[in-house]
Amino acid sequence: MAQQAALRLVGFFLPLLLGWPGGAPALGASTPNTTPEKCRLTGTWVNDLGSKMVISEVDNGGQFTGSYLTAVSSVENAVIRESPLQGIQHHPSRRAQPTFGLTVHWDFSESVTVFAGQCFVNEKGEETLETMWLLRSEEKTHADDWKATRVGRNVFLRIK
Ligand code: BTN
Repeated sequence: MAQQAALRLVGFFLPLLLGWPGGAPALGASTPNTTPEKCRLTGTWVNDLGSKMVISEVDNGGQFTGSYLTAVSSVENAVIRESPLQGIQHHPSRRAQPTFGLTVHWDFSESVTVFAGQCFVNEKGEETLETMWLLRSEEKTHADDWKATRVGRNVFLRIK
């Protein structure tokens, strides 16, 4: 009994002393190399506003489609709906950190947003999309055109 308790104590404290915060690694286990060498657009992304973007497979010409669920809207009382997007990236097979452009056609407003960006593998080995966007709203008159365009920056992290 006392021997078993002593063994349990050693099993608890030894990994901590050796700097294994999650406990001792299982025998034969190795740390998987999850650091991607190449940044891929395909997948599910979330940005700094909490918006979610899903990008389909990129075809050989660099074109892709997807969907965008924005967390915010410039339209008062908008009933936000998932909206389609279309995009194109540069040299899908040649570049490790490709540039891309995409357009979201909002299904619940008369606006469109264009994003221009680059897919990077950041310092932590995570894929991240650095983007700038232009949101074009519909104005009633030509004279109101001056206030039709907003500009901003979004950073997306892969969640799937
Ligand atoms: C609209 O307001 O008419 C449509 C929604 C716009 C949402 C914008 S697009 C740029 C910014 N990034 C987001 O994720 N959402 C906002």
